[in-house]
Amino acid sequence: MKIVVLTGAGMSAESGIKTFRDSDGLWENHRIEDVATPEAWHRNPELVTLFYNQRREQLSVVKPNEGHLALKSLEVKHEVIIITQNVDDLHERAGSTQIIHLHGELTKLRSVKFETDLYDVGYKSVKHGEKCPKGTILRPFIVWFGESVPMIEKAVEITQKADMLIVVGTSLEVYPAAGLIHEVKPNTPIVLIDPNRHDNIHQKNIHLIKDTAANALPKLVNKLLNEH
Ligand code: APR
Repeated sequence: MKIVVLTGAGMSAESGIKTFRDSDGLWENHRIEDVATPEAWHRNPELVTLFYNQRREQLSVVKPNEGHLALKSLEVKHEVIIITQNVDDLHERAGSTQIIHLHGELTKLRSVKFETDLYDVGYKSVKHGEKCPKGTILRPFIVWFGESVPMIEKAVEITQKADMLIVVGTSLEVYPAAGLIHEVKPNTPIVLIDPNRHDNIHQKNIHLIKDTAANALPKLVNKLLNEH
């Protein structure tokens, strides 16, 4: 089977990375408009740089959880393609081989001028004003609010070919990613894993598992490895 997995912040919650829409409405003590928009970058690039330095530092000390590891083990029997809204590298570190990052990657910087010029920085802190070898300023490789999502076309194409879609830990509030659940072929099963979701999605074929990623995914993966 071709299994497509759409993941969001809840996927990494049990690894110790906070989700975005926590009850205080802040992302790691910052308003999203202050750290995750092009306007924020123009207004105060030092603050934005510092914020992503902190995110990178945090990423260096957390680990993939049982959910990430389960998705890796699903590859033994199925073709698994992960489409993630997360900018962490926990799917990579769990060993998953096919991963599309819709919203960028923390461990990379990009040229402010050339979207596709990417530079690996790992978990290092960087200073605002550092330049790429071509001489342009570098910025975080993050798709900020209000920016286009270049990988969405590829993600749509992949989702349209899925035999099953698993959606884990996303509030499905941010588009275009949230629209992917409407791209599957008719009658394709969709499994939604989220401990807090109320059953308010009006789409047939959705099976809701009200549990966390690290609890629910190992059980679901076991079932998929034994049944199909
Ligand atoms: N396991 C599974 N799901 C969980 C867990 C968990 N342990 N803990 C929380 N969740 C769920 C929450 O109930 C919520 O529905 O994960 C979801 C997280 O939602 P958001 O914080 O809105 O994250 P996400 O959907 O990934 O946000 C999308 O918005 O801020 C931008 O670019 C950013 O990629 C991000 C995008």
